[in-house]
Amino acid sequence: MFSRRSQFGSEVNAYTAALDEQRRRGTHLIDLTHSNPTRAGFDASLYSFQSFDPNASAFRVYEPVAQGLATTRDAIADYYARYHGVRINPDALLLASGTSEAYRVLFDLLCDPGDRLLAPSPGYPLLDLLAQASGAEIEHYRLTYSHQEGWRIDLAELAERITAHTRGIVLITPGNPTGHMLNAKELQFLNQLCHKHALALIVDEVFVDYVRPGRPGPPHDVYANDVLTFVLNGLSKGAGLPQLKLSWILTSGPEVLAQEAAHRTAFLMDSMLSVSSFAQLVAPEVLERSEVFRQPLLQRIAHNLEQLHRDLPDARFQALESDGGWYQVLRVPEVLAGEDGAIRCLREQGVIVLPGYFFDFEEDNFIVISLLTPSADFAEGLARIVRLADPSS
Ligand SMILES: Cc1ncc(COP(=O)(O)O)c(C=O)c1O
Repeated sequence: MFSRRSQFGSEVNAYTAALDEQRRRGTHLIDLTHSNPTRAGFDASLYSFQSFDPNASAFRVYEPVAQGLATTRDAIADYYARYHGVRINPDALLLASGTSEAYRVLFDLLCDPGDRLLAPSPGYPLLDLLAQASGAEIEHYRLTYSHQEGWRIDLAELAERITAHTRGIVLITPGNPTGHMLNAKELQFLNQLCHKHALALIVDEVFVDYVRPGRPGPPHDVYANDVLTFVLNGLSKGAGLPQLKLSWILTSGPEVLAQEAAHRTAFLMDSMLSVSSFAQLVAPEVLERSEVFRQPLLQRIAHNLEQLHRDLPDARFQALESDGGWYQVLRVPEVLAGEDGAIRCLREQGVIVLPGYFFDFEEDNFIVISLLTPSADFAEGLARIVRLADPSS
């Protein structure tokens, strides 16, 4: 009776079962995976929404605009000019209710059933589900890591994965969980591939406000690119307000193609009109105040990173270099590797970490932790996993 698109695996993996068991028992757990900013102890009360007036005609009279309100799009363009030094065209923006919805709209725009999109591995696991729900498929290209260069796209391997069914390439920059940042050389190569094979680029930059100090941001060409390109971002990470459900798609590329894409995405959005007027009306205030919100969050990331580099015993652990984002990848000793390692952390030390296989790491000996974890928990959780790996303890 039901579609294949809606058939998602319902098996509970051993790690999730172990976590549920600990929670049922009421065990006090140290959660090193906090990545919901509304649960990580940051004060969002600075968003007072005082700019919102329920009697203003823009709220009293519902005006469905598929692309999103012009005042909101202007405020997003101001945010790019102010915080990222980029001039973007507000008319090239389309608002959506969350980045996940933006992905769905783009997958619907680009893919017929069975078509494919290339996405990074290790990478953000939700993409596979979003693609499946659109009837599309994700094929993973490889990110490689070296101490000298950090994370880089294996460009030759990516090129080999392109087939007649490939419709686009997804980039997450900074990456989740790697923190990989797209550089100009990679963009140039990908642009050539897109030209040659008529592909689109989808650039997810939801973590762009969390670039590590001294590291470059994404190449500015992505905001006005030569090939059809969609940049995705929103208030979920940059302003720490996932519950406001406001994100955007910035479209660029050859004029005729970009216009056709914008027209079609607006049509797809028009069938849902999912973005609330309230979110659109308060967005200018939120964007303006978001910098104040980010300060303690950036400080916590810096503090946790300092702690990590001070306390992690180099011989057995390695904190992988990252250009930005909220996550930290750790190479760990055998005892902590894979699902079994994550379960031991949980049962023997009461610490929650994410096993690397959740993100499709090729090898077993990686775990992922969140740098948003409150610092006292971060220090204690880290000490406990180091203890578990110490053969003399
Ligand atoms: C890389 C990446 N993209 C998109 C999202 C979803 O963002 P939104 O809350 O705007 O749907 C997340 C959420 O964790 C993410 O990590």
